Amino acid sequence: MSDKVYIFDTTLRDGEQVPGCQLSTPEKVEIAKELEILGVDVIEAGFPISSPMDFNSVVEISKAVSDPIICALTRSVEKDIDFAADSLKYAKRKRIHTGIGTSEYHIKYKFKSDQERILERGVAAVKYAKKFVEDIEFYCEDAGRTDNEYLARVVEAVIKAGATVVNIPDTTGYCLPDEYGEKIRFLKENVGNIAQAIISCHCHNDLGLATANTAAGVVNGARQVEVTINGIGERAGNTSLEEIAMILKTHKDLDLHTNINSTHLYSLSLLVSKMMRMPVQPNKAIVGRNAFAHSSGIHQDGVIKHRENYEILDPEDVGIPQSSIILTARSGKAALKYHLERLGYDDLDNDRVEEVYEAFLKMADEKKDINDDDLIILVEGKLPDGGLELQNVQIMCGDSVMPSATVELKLNNETVHATAMGVGSIDAAFNAVDKIVNDTLLLDEFLVQSMGDRKDLGKVHIRVKHDDGIYHGFGVHQDVIIASVKAYVDAINKVTSLKRRHKKSA
Ligand code: KIV
Ligand code: ZN
Repeated sequence: MSDKVYIFDTTLRDGEQVPGCQLSTPEKVEIAKELEILGVDVIEAGFPISSPMDFNSVVEISKAVSDPIICALTRSVEKDIDFAADSLKYAKRKRIHTGIGTSEYHIKYKFKSDQERILERGVAAVKYAKKFVEDIEFYCEDAGRTDNEYLARVVEAVIKAGATVVNIPDTTGYCLPDEYGEKIRFLKENVGNIAQAIISCHCHNDLGLATANTAAGVVNGARQVEVTINGIGERAGNTSLEEIAMILKTHKDLDLHTNINSTHLYSLSLLVSKMMRMPVQPNKAIVGRNAFAHSSGIHQDGVIKHRENYEILDPEDVGIPQSSIILTARSGKAALKYHLERLGYDDLDNDRVEEVYEAFLKMADEKKDINDDDLIILVEGKLPDGGLELQNVQIMCGDSVMPSATVELKLNNETVHATAMGVGSIDAAFNAVDKIVNDTLLLDEFLVQSMGDRKDLGKVHIRVKHDDGIYHGFGVHQDVIIASVKAYVDAINKVTSLKRRHKKSA
């Protein structure tokens, strides 16, 4: 039977310390419910003494979530612990996470104290917290730079005082994987009562080693990992939940498992990114936009022949419907044929494919990415007629009126118009377009930029979802609202032209 590694999610505490990414209590509750569905074991819901909002968030999350343990952070200060205990009163399963800095830096420059007094404060905090809650986690802040002998003494003393979990944070992201792994092994081998507690890894990413260090900790005997969705957190962030979950799932040789239902990883990554207004880097492992995108000819050919030639993970396993084959100037014929067939062009003979490929390479040299419309133009010479054309947009907005928009579109030589309200001018204009086409596209990304250094011209890129597809729209105008409507109409035209092609080929 493989050992379980407990997933302690701190997206809502350490993760939320990212400047400018603070969440409201209802937003935190929404994320906490999703974390419960994902299968995390512990949710660190906040640092209750730090603000009334943090206190309230712990209260509300405790009410909303029942399976995971709800954890509240404190310093080794009685008042902090009082607040934490109070905030956890509705939690079905609760934990207080207390601790103190143990490195020479912290002892000397933060506390102006000495090792013995710090150890005593830690022990006193655990004993005090134990009066309220049975499950106590103790963190030795900056353990990464703490001398191992002293760290072992602190760990032994707090376990004796009642700590059930001992957290060994690499607070500054300083350690190398071997060094961090060795630290965990040292504690396993030199702390007499270590079997009475779980060792937890909490690694920061200042040198890009958070995931590697956490993995090294687990390999050396830690059985809890402290992680955040998308690896968000102060400075360079924390260990990313999705990376650790998938490392443990992929490396069966480690004989370890978690309770994570990995198919929820991608949707939760999107939710956290959206709520925190913090984009995920495209090349981020597991959940980045390019994590399963192949663009070079050799890789594309390999993936089309057999996915596992170039993928160690199945995208569906993390909730991404499929790998993507991106068409660029480096793509080969196999990738082009794959997309032509997807669009219904499965009857082209080899000579025609060769011609289209030559034209495709020329086009790809000029444009960065080739989309479905480009492929249709390459095969047919032009896009099919019948698209929508924006004729006119009128907006009414202001501080004291509900924004409304009237949009006029030309469709097959006929002019049609509609008026709609919205929460803002752009929302109103998009709603008016939706009324005309009797459909709604799900807005996935919206980007407004100036055209170079011109302040009189704006360009808008949007990304929308429709059925299972993702479509891009683009618009330019002196007025960004009109540029936005143009981009939206452009995206609708892409959806309809693709649907038309599919119908034709069916
Ligand atoms: O990084 C750290 O040391 C922490 C502790 C407060 C657990 O976040
Ligand atoms: Zn931290």
